[in-house]
Amino acid sequence: MPKVLVTRILPPHAQARLESQSFELIQWKQDSAMPRKELLGQIKGVDALICLLTDRIDDELLDAAGPQLKLVATMSVGYDHVDVSALKKRRIPLGYTPDVLTDATADLTVLLTMGAARRMKEGIIAAEKGEWREWRPTWLCGSQFSNKTLGVVGLGRIGEAVAHRLKAFGISKVVYWGRSEKVETGKRVGGEFVSFDRLLAESDYVTVCCALTKDTKELFDYNAFSKMKKSAIFVNTARGGIVQQDDLVRALEEGLIAGAGLDVTTPEPLPLDNKLLKLPNCIVLPHIASATNETRERMADMCVENVLAGLSNQALPFSVTE
Ligand code: DGY
Repeated sequence: MPKVLVTRILPPHAQARLESQSFELIQWKQDSAMPRKELLGQIKGVDALICLLTDRIDDELLDAAGPQLKLVATMSVGYDHVDVSALKKRRIPLGYTPDVLTDATADLTVLLTMGAARRMKEGIIAAEKGEWREWRPTWLCGSQFSNKTLGVVGLGRIGEAVAHRLKAFGISKVVYWGRSEKVETGKRVGGEFVSFDRLLAESDYVTVCCALTKDTKELFDYNAFSKMKKSAIFVNTARGGIVQQDDLVRALEEGLIAGAGLDVTTPEPLPLDNKLLKLPNCIVLPHIASATNETRERMADMCVENVLAGLSNQALPFSVTE
């Protein structure tokens, strides 16, 4: 009987499906990351692994697994926690969960963009602290979307969904930057492919929707923030590593940009004494962009489907092709 290791308890329907299969299930049945030592111990001899973005998949782990490992399925669309070359050299396919979290992630990106633009954090704090006085014409004024420019960094599935949504709120111009021009997607959102510097200079809202790679690591540093409009809002729902975080703190403190909305940080969880949490013009959420019941069930289910296919020596239905 094949052995399948799952590093976390899955959402209920996917968990039930997992438990109904005829394989030996080894699972870290807790709502917290499987300790590395435990993972290294338990992976020995398994045929398939379902992991999360909190598990590092590298040579050490694959060596510990042994040569029978047939596939790795991550319950995420991002796979910067996986050493793809380590898998490739062992000819182990990598399954992931594209598409299904596009809507949930785009929705939350819009929420953060609007929240930061309309100074929601300051408003909530003021209301809760009794600082809400009589109605005042200039109090807590933010910026709106009509006739503004949106800059999308990474016009993939999520970037496109964000652009469509924000256009419905009045964004009049979309510019985007990434590894290459996305002609069809660009047409669909009416977006112009521009240089990174032009995107920074022209955008009223910058949303980061790209993968974390060696090319995007700390792409947003002090230099980048200093090229943005002082009224700009910066939103990151991709990966914390794309931002030089101390530089973002400086940019927000010095007024290089007006505000930020972050669903991802470095590290995660963000320590309570981190300055980003104290800044009134920065909203931080705990990496919940894909956190809808529907999306998380579907993500987990895709992992199960990947495992079933891989164990039957079939191509994974949702696999990384790079
Ligand atoms: C992913 O899947 O990569 C997201 O960051 C978490 O849903």
